[in-house]
Amino acid sequence: MFQLKLSPLRFPTLHRPGSSYRHFISAYYIKPTCIIRRKMSSVSQLKKDYPWVSNPLIIAAPMRVFTGPALAQAVSSAGGLGFIGPGLKPESTATDLASLGEKGEEVGVGFQLWNGDLAKAVEVVGEYKPCACWLFAPLNGQKDIDLWSAKLRAAHPGIKIWLQIGTVTEALAAATSSQPPDVLVVQGTEAGGHGRTSDGASWTTLLPEIEDTFSAKGLPQIPLVAAGGISDARGIAAALSVGASGAAIGTRFLASTEARIAKGYQNAVLEASEGGKNTVRTHLYNHLRGTYGWPEEQWAPRALKNKSWEEHEAGVPFEELRGKHEDALRKGDAAWGKETGRTATYAGEGVGLVRTVKSAKDIVVEERQKAREILRRMAGEFGDER
Ligand SMILES: Cc1cc2nc3c(=O)[nH]c(=O)nc-3n(C[C@H](O)[C@H](O)[C@H](O)COP(=O)(O)O)c2cc1C
Repeated sequence: MFQLKLSPLRFPTLHRPGSSYRHFISAYYIKPTCIIRRKMSSVSQLKKDYPWVSNPLIIAAPMRVFTGPALAQAVSSAGGLGFIGPGLKPESTATDLASLGEKGEEVGVGFQLWNGDLAKAVEVVGEYKPCACWLFAPLNGQKDIDLWSAKLRAAHPGIKIWLQIGTVTEALAAATSSQPPDVLVVQGTEAGGHGRTSDGASWTTLLPEIEDTFSAKGLPQIPLVAAGGISDARGIAAALSVGASGAAIGTRFLASTEARIAKGYQNAVLEASEGGKNTVRTHLYNHLRGTYGWPEEQWAPRALKNKSWEEHEAGVPFEELRGKHEDALRKGDAAWGKETGRTATYAGEGVGLVRTVKSAKDIVVEERQKAREILRRMAGEFGDER
């Protein structure tokens, strides 16, 4: 147990009426010790909330359609935490959870708020009692998140709310709201799928700045999880080093045996390299598929560049691209791929690290083990003065 003898002469702020340990942290610069202390408590909090998890915690992000029940459950069974992604229809989440029976209580579910159906979400959460809900992309900012959080918590009092954000401003709005989340997923610009269109940052800077901002304002520390470009143990160890309590992974799980994904899409992910060069954030692929309505100024998806993007850049009119896209969809797996593919292949900047298809269990167990080894080696090499 952490105990300090704090003299009123040296630490007057702490002894003021109404002061708390948190105020003490912001008033005196003793950050390193406190960070370790708070970090341990966030990690223990997550272990308490999800007793089956092992550390370092690996989370399967709720990728729309692709993270189905088989993938989410395999991740949770391997000591991680899997989130089922939103399905093609609002009722798909119920079908997915029903397929897991009691195991459905050891997975989470993801909802996109901009087009989500709150009434259906409340119904499904109340009936199947998943352990957590992952919320993302509201139309009306924190107001919508508060509404969803309050209704979901009322429907299933044990539910934990995970909120994915991509700016310090969003994190602060959530932490000071009437319904603070139980976990903040700090999504960096590296992420595949939808992320901040123009005001995002890497989680390398975003996550510690959120932690510092909470400390400076005396806000309770909400467990932070990093997301974006984390494809293996090296990314996981890096996330823990900047203060994350876990790593949320999307793209790597697209190349898992349990992913609900077309072979052509999966092959395009395996073949891609240099995510910075070969992916782009654009709404082109949403529009080619007829998806409109995303709050586009705030979020745009990161996708692998292919023929549609190349021709769009060369000035080919949208209508012509759409016709070619429809033709491509009729070709099955050939609709994906860098040279001739034309349809959406959402993937993150870490795509070049994804080289093999493995079972979700192997990904979780192997990368967790390797992350531990990296952290042990780092402690040995850098943990003291030599
Ligand atoms: C194909 C794909 C679909 C995604 N769908 C969703 C979604 O429906 N809801 C959501 O909150 N995030 C979604 N994301 C974003 C993830 O939550 C997460 O931020 C991202 O996958 C992390 O980056 P990474 O893909 O580089 O690992 C998606 C990501 C991908 C790659």
